[in-house]
Amino acid sequence: MIVCKTRKELQEALTRCRQGKSVGLVPTMGALHDGHASLFARARAENDVFVASVFVNPIQFNNPDDLKNYPRQFEADRNLLEQNGCDIMFAPETEEMYPAGEPVRTYAFGPLENVMEGARRPGHFAGVGAVVGLLFQLIAPDRAYFGEKDFQQVAVIKELARQMDSGVEIVSCPIKRGDDGLALSSRNALLTPENRAKAPAIYATLKKSLAMAHRTCGEVKDWVKSQIAVFPEMELEYFEIADPDSLQPLDDTLPAAGNVGFIVVWMGKVRLIDNIRY
Ligand code: PAF
Repeated sequence: MIVCKTRKELQEALTRCRQGKSVGLVPTMGALHDGHASLFARARAENDVFVASVFVNPIQFNNPDDLKNYPRQFEADRNLLEQNGCDIMFAPETEEMYPAGEPVRTYAFGPLENVMEGARRPGHFAGVGAVVGLLFQLIAPDRAYFGEKDFQQVAVIKELARQMDSGVEIVSCPIKRGDDGLALSSRNALLTPENRAKAPAIYATLKKSLAMAHRTCGEVKDWVKSQIAVFPEMELEYFEIADPDSLQPLDDTLPAAGNVGFIVVWMGKVRLIDNIRY
């Protein structure tokens, strides 16, 4: 595996490896785990060259504490990528990604970014769009892989690829869960052992809510809220049921097949996100 810290090293590595072959990109913020490994497996299997980026993108964090606490583990990430057959690891410093004086290209995603994560984390999707757009420009992958745990992010990135006319195929990969159902996330490592033991109740609640499809979305939302409220260590930030394409939240209709329930729960200082299909 070639490890590149600079754009120049990246271009050299791409020139050496690409030679007309297909390139698959998995953009990450590091702290890699089995959830990422499922994306790596697909990128490895479906492309000749597998590139992974590891970059904690400061401009997508609207909360400075969240950025400060985000886990960083370069050596472990490098080993995991190597074990997963990665050809090129791109791990730049912030100054390399955003050199002083180079304007950051931004994109607008309209209604997709005005709801849920976009509404609660102002500037988040502008930051995600900027960094992923830059990675698409620098790497020009044929395919890029993203996990459905961040369902709204996948929708935004599909829109980004459309706006950039990049020709990058966006591959959306199913959520990877622990044996107890908790969606795998870099943030899980920050949970206290007590909160980690309780956290699977989030997905258990989402699964139980599937049995309520004869009630309106508003009623299902109220029920989920009441279930999460039972846990004193959990604070529900939001639960919404939304259309999978427009992402606009629904209230008065029954959940239709394919609608998605989106949940965000705080446990201590850790923000956990998950979703389920109705
Ligand atoms: O999902 C993530 O890890 C990040 O939002 C991404 C796509 C790597 C952009 O920084």
